[in-house]
Amino acid sequence: ILTFNIIVMLYQLTLIDLRRPENVSVDSLNTRYVLRWDWPHETAANQTVTFTLIKWKKKIQLIKYWTSVCVNVLEHRCDFTGAIHYKISFLLRVWANTSQQSSGWVQISFCPDEHAALGPPSSLKLSSVKGDLEIIITDPLSSTNQSMKTLLNDRLSYRIQYWRRSEEPQVPVHTRAKSSRMGFSSGCVWILSECGIC
Ligand SMILES: *[C@@H]1O[C@H](CO)[C@@H](O)[C@H](O)[C@H]1NC(C)=O
Ligand SMILES: *[C@@H]1O[C@H](CO)[C@@H](O)[C@H](O)[C@H]1NC(C)=O
Ligand SMILES: *[C@@H]1O[C@H](CO)[C@@H](O)[C@H](O)[C@H]1NC(C)=O
Ligand SMILES: *[C@@H]1O[C@H](CO)[C@@H](O)[C@H](O)[C@H]1NC(C)=O
Repeated sequence: ILTFNIIVMLYQLTLIDLRRPENVSVDSLNTRYVLRWDWPHETAANQTVTFTLIKWKKKIQLIKYWTSVCVNVLEHRCDFTGAIHYKISFLLRVWANTSQQSSGWVQISFCPDEHAALGPPSSLKLSSVKGDLEIIITDPLSSTNQSMKTLLNDRLSYRIQYWRRSEEPQVPVHTRAKSSRMGFSSGCVWILSECGIC
């Protein structure tokens, strides 16, 4: 494996003519993931430059287990929603190539459970029940419309801010709730804002 890696490195060195992708980052929301990068266009005059993204599980040797996610794509993005598991750390490698040249790769580590942004509740409904205010929150949803709560093993709770309409919203009262249905005993008008947190 060491020999193989050295050969790969030497191969890479002999082919590094193109600039590597820059500013590589993942845009994520719940279980949707898109890798984005920039590339300096002027460095490959007139040639078609394409990009390839591969992934593999972090603890596993590259040699056997890498999988291509996007191959020879023209755009500077790759949607890898569904290509990785929520709780496993993956390594992603992206590089540029033309028909004659190849760039070095840029590698990043990504684990959705640690790095992915959690989206807001998918809906919020209010109703008045016998003078009390009832709030019904629907969990944020994954790309397959599952509740994010199942992926987060119940680490999902809600922070609710509410304040009287006549008061300054800068000093909200906070409450945390695990349940997605709760009541407020008050006949007053409340302003609400909420967000899901881990
Ligand atoms: C990468 O981001 C920096 C800062 O935003 C920018 O100045 C630079 O031009 C970007 N690189 C490319 C190749 O676009
Ligand atoms: C790129 O194409 C333009 C016009 O098609 C040509 O004038 C120029 O010499 C080409 N540059 C290279 C590096 O091939
Ligand atoms: C590099 O890019 C070209 C298209 O420009 C593609 O045909 C080719 O298969 C790519 N990969 C390699 C290893 O050359
Ligand atoms: C998820 O729900 C939305 C809205 O109900 C629907 O448009 C979409 O097709 C659903 N997606 C999946 C993967 O079931």
